[in-house]
Amino acid sequence: MESEKKITYPLLMCVGTAVIGSLQFGYNTGVINAPQKIIEKFINETWAQRYQEPITENSLTAIWSIAVAIFSVGGIIGSFSVGLFVNRFGRKKSMLMANILSFIASALMGFSKMAGSWEMLIIGRFVVGLYCGLTTGFVPMYVGEISPTTLRGALGTLHQLGIVLGILIAQVFGLEVILGSDDLWPLLLGFIFIPAVFQCVLLPLCPESPRFLLINRNEENKAKSVLKKLRGTTDVSADMQEMKEESRQMMREKKVTIKELVLSPIYRQPLIIAIVLQLSQQLSGINAVFYYSTKIFETAGVEQPVYATIGAGVVNTAFTVVSLFIVERTGRRSLHMAGLLGMAGSAVLMTIALALLDQVKWMSYLSIVAIFAFVAFFEIGPGPIPWFIVAELFSQGPRPSAIAVAGLSNWTANFIVGMGFQYVQAQCGPYVFVIFTVLLLFFFVFTYFKVPETKGRTFDEIASGFRQAGGAGREKHSPDELNSLGADSQL
Ligand code: GLC
Repeated sequence: MESEKKITYPLLMCVGTAVIGSLQFGYNTGVINAPQKIIEKFINETWAQRYQEPITENSLTAIWSIAVAIFSVGGIIGSFSVGLFVNRFGRKKSMLMANILSFIASALMGFSKMAGSWEMLIIGRFVVGLYCGLTTGFVPMYVGEISPTTLRGALGTLHQLGIVLGILIAQVFGLEVILGSDDLWPLLLGFIFIPAVFQCVLLPLCPESPRFLLINRNEENKAKSVLKKLRGTTDVSADMQEMKEESRQMMREKKVTIKELVLSPIYRQPLIIAIVLQLSQQLSGINAVFYYSTKIFETAGVEQPVYATIGAGVVNTAFTVVSLFIVERTGRRSLHMAGLLGMAGSAVLMTIALALLDQVKWMSYLSIVAIFAFVAFFEIGPGPIPWFIVAELFSQGPRPSAIAVAGLSNWTANFIVGMGFQYVQAQCGPYVFVIFTVLLLFFFVFTYFKVPETKGRTFDEIASGFRQAGGAGREKHSPDELNSLGADSQL
């Protein structure tokens, strides 16, 4: 069993290469926060040149909101298309091919200023959104499939670590003294071709997922030799056994299309859990912070809002690292609940800070503390866990479809928050975070009653836990029951 826990160089290299995609996702999430005013100026000038009159406030807001939110529209379409690629081309080739989109988006956004076209900026954001949507499916799937059971959570969290590092890099590069200036912002957006080049060079050196080789392609010898490399040992019989078990199960299930997944009662329970966990990540309000924190801090009277935004990025990264080290010990379920509850508490603090701002001067400091705590609790659980738990909740057959449906839910909720936050804030003023508090408490209760622990259990054990629970015809089962069903099947 020692090999189960070993982090080998090839394993790290594969995970590291895959999460370059996650880095891209984070970068493009964070990159439009700081330079908003500068890019708006470009839109304004281009409009004036083209139509010989200044742009109206409404048109400017509309163009900017579209440029921000169309990224998630691309994400919705990309994430839902994951299943079209992964079984046909394999996990690795799918990741490789997706980079074409990064290159196209880089060119569109990088040359938009030169061409005097904000349309190119918008299309570029859409194309890179497509890429990121695909990535949020490909990466957790590949990482989950190559990781040993005991490290699946920790390595799965690296996807989120890639994302948060991407956000932080974008925030720092977005500073006016670096790339967030009138002349250099096209480079800020165009730079995404650099990680794409790295990934294109490194991916061919990484092996295909052994699960894909064995279960989908029936290439037993290849799967075995990849496993030996990844595990750093010649005895990979336990892993092979586990995959064969999953494969046998899949013969019975055949390939599961999205329609079958949604309609079949066997998958209902894990599918609802997967969807609600995605919603809990996005409707927690996290991207209200990552898209608009500079503005939020400004409203709260913080003097250097851009630096407070970078502070949030640093806290975000630090706590993802914390989660990475404790997720295999503490488990997914408890970390997710702790995170949701802590976020709800921080959202209450934020509301108090915003509501009392006019009366009490130091409330602007409380708002910083509240946002930092909000972000820290997010990364303890609701940030990383939903991304990798979907790959854990489903076996090889339904996994691609499940990841597509989960991704669709995540990106749709992302879009709703990104598009709607500013409008809702205008309506609710300081009480906007109350909405997130209520949602967070709901997700906490849901997790308590419905989400089973997946730590340390093989894909097949987790799936059979659900099968037994569903097969018994019971509608309701506590996590303890599910846990024990999973434990039973280990015997
Ligand atoms: C998660 C979310 C993403 C968010 C990020 C913040 O990865 O999916 O939308 O921006 O966390 O760290």
